[in-house]
Amino acid sequence: MSATDPIFDVKNVTLRFGGVTSLNDVSLQQQRGEILCVIGPNGAGKTSLFNCLTGVYRPQEGSITFSPDESHSVSIIGRAPHRVARAGVSRTFQTSRMFNALTTFENVKIGVEARQKTGPIGAMLRLPRTRHEERDSDQRSHELLEFVSLTHRTNTLADSLPYGDRRRLEIARALGTNPKVLLLDEPAAGTNPSEKLALAELILRINSELGISILLIEHDMKLVMSLAQRLVVLNFGGIIAEGTPMEIQENPKVVEAYLGTAEKAEN
Ligand SMILES: Nc1ncnc2c1ncn2[C@@H]1O[C@H](COP(=O)(O)OP(=O)(O)OP(=O)(O)O)[C@@H](O)[C@H]1O
Ligand SMILES: [Mg+2]
Repeated sequence: MSATDPIFDVKNVTLRFGGVTSLNDVSLQQQRGEILCVIGPNGAGKTSLFNCLTGVYRPQEGSITFSPDESHSVSIIGRAPHRVARAGVSRTFQTSRMFNALTTFENVKIGVEARQKTGPIGAMLRLPRTRHEERDSDQRSHELLEFVSLTHRTNTLADSLPYGDRRRLEIARALGTNPKVLLLDEPAAGTNPSEKLALAELILRINSELGISILLIEHDMKLVMSLAQRLVVLNFGGIIAEGTPMEIQENPKVVEAYLGTAEKAEN
């Protein structure tokens, strides 16, 4: 038996856009069941990393192995995003991507149906499906809304949801595909302190009750430090530090990445 059981194994990933190197020789592992946080200043490459892990971007160099369970591994690079999602990788986006004219329930149902044979387009076009599948996805959507405490918003249009509820809806939709790992790109951005607390609690429940590994990008350090089991710090596309919340807080390289520019300007 190996000492580690990585769900993601990223090796030497480099991603360039013309002259810009968004990720520079990035290697990291996320262990199965882990809540791993990715932090770093604006433009550090955090979202680019998520885009590589979900098949949206194709890095020029390196390898990304996803292991939905201990005995299976798939290579992510070159795999289309919908196939990566089907393999067990789900995500939310830094900026909200809801169907505003649909209800909370309908938005979740689209996520649930993304994993079914007929697919979301078929569902929207009402292509013939078994009643069984329809009943299943309705039930599953209600369960997910209950899990994220949005049952009272079932028939509310996504457009008119308060911000914190919107963020929860995005998470419910991402859970619809029954992922093994959930990637959250700044889930608490724009939320108020009580919404932040509720989100932190939800993320912990997804991890402990559903057994889903969590990869989290977040700028709110209080939230990061309360959730993360381990952190990786990106700066200018490269990993500058890795460790427990305590280790990271005390790491001079990290302090400099966040504050150093101001200090350098003074010197
Ligand atoms: N599609 C793209 N085309 C060109 N450059 C890109 C593209 N995507 C990302 N980049 C560049 O890659 C770098 C990293 O961007 P990225 O969005 O990954 O940063 P980030 O760490 O998520 O920042 P933030 O905290 O502001 O969200 C930036 O210089 C950005 O301009
Ligand atoms: Mg980003």
